[in-house]
Amino acid sequence: MRVLITGGTNGMGKGVARALAARDPKHEIIILGRSAERGESTLRELRSVAKNPNVSFVCCDLTKLSDVKNAIARLRASTTSLDAVFINAGLGYAAGRYETEDGLDPHFQVNYLSQFMLTLQLLDLLERSQDGGRVVFNVTEGGHIVWDDLQLKRNWGYERGIQQAMVAKRMFYARLHDLTRKAHADRTSFFGFQIPKTVWSNQINIIPWHMRAIATVVKWFGGFISIDECGELMAPLFTEDQAASRKRSGTFVTRTKLGFVEKDDPVVSDRASQEKLWNISLDLCQDEDTRHIATALCQRAQSQATSAPS
Ligand SMILES: NC(=O)c1ccc[n+]([C@@H]2O[C@H](COP(=O)([O-])OP(=O)(O)OC[C@H]3O[C@@H](n4cnc5c(N)ncnc54)[C@H](OP(=O)(O)O)[C@@H]3O)[C@@H](O)[C@H]2O)c1
Repeated sequence: MRVLITGGTNGMGKGVARALAARDPKHEIIILGRSAERGESTLRELRSVAKNPNVSFVCCDLTKLSDVKNAIARLRASTTSLDAVFINAGLGYAAGRYETEDGLDPHFQVNYLSQFMLTLQLLDLLERSQDGGRVVFNVTEGGHIVWDDLQLKRNWGYERGIQQAMVAKRMFYARLHDLTRKAHADRTSFFGFQIPKTVWSNQINIIPWHMRAIATVVKWFGGFISIDECGELMAPLFTEDQAASRKRSGTFVTRTKLGFVEKDDPVVSDRASQEKLWNISLDLCQDEDTRHIATALCQRAQSQATSAPS
């Protein structure tokens, strides 16, 4: 299995990378992250602790669409197929609003838009996976899209930014599932996963001291799991057989005592809103390759729909 993990240098992404690397030294793990130094130390760790030599790093700062384009080009030059992608990288706590060099809200760009572009441009590599590819999105429930202030210029809050990006990711995989389920002959699956417990991630080192103090108390009472527990819990979503993965496609998954379960997600089910966000996202990417892929997907889905027997 060859898997790309965005944000694999810390937190949940690193937990999943460690678990998958340790399960089978033949698993190829590609980490995408913004820091070459943290990338190198993660690779060293995976080689020595997880005993897996098949690891590599792609440096990409998701606050820059130009960096995302470069990373896509490097990935495409070095890889002919992908079996799985974990759309995980995310900006969490932020003390105040700033804009990326593309003029966007960083939560919107890092947690959603840059990975929208990345996913669309890797779809053909996923299609070439021998058993069919899968894309797992790290999401949480709730939230809403602030349609008249997507970049949160008027009413910023880091939690609003995180939640809006979560809804955007959920709308994205729901639409991808709809558009590809016939054209790809159900080969690639797209679904969201919500971790049922909070993960003790690098966010602890970023939040202000009073939030850290509360988190530490909550940890004493068992309110957190480690990144390794998170990795072990999530790894089956990447290694289970493709038929099981296909059944999840388009859905919002979490984990209960019964195992992985699918939950209703009424917030994102409106197709007109999904399409509206899709079109806005393409405009914001300002990238002809991404637009071309998106247009081809829509046309293919349309022609499949009109040629399907009624
Ligand atoms: N922790 C939880 O309990 C929890 C629960 C549900 C969902 N989530 C979601 O899970 C995701 C990961 O969160 P986490 O808690 O594991 O946080 P984390 O420990 O801070 O890890 C975030 C990862 O994203 C990377 N990243 C951040 N900004 C980036 C950028 N501009 N370009 C490229 N990579 C970037 C980080 O890179 P660096 O190593 O360079 O910082 C890191 O590898 C987030 O989307 C979060 O909202 C977390």
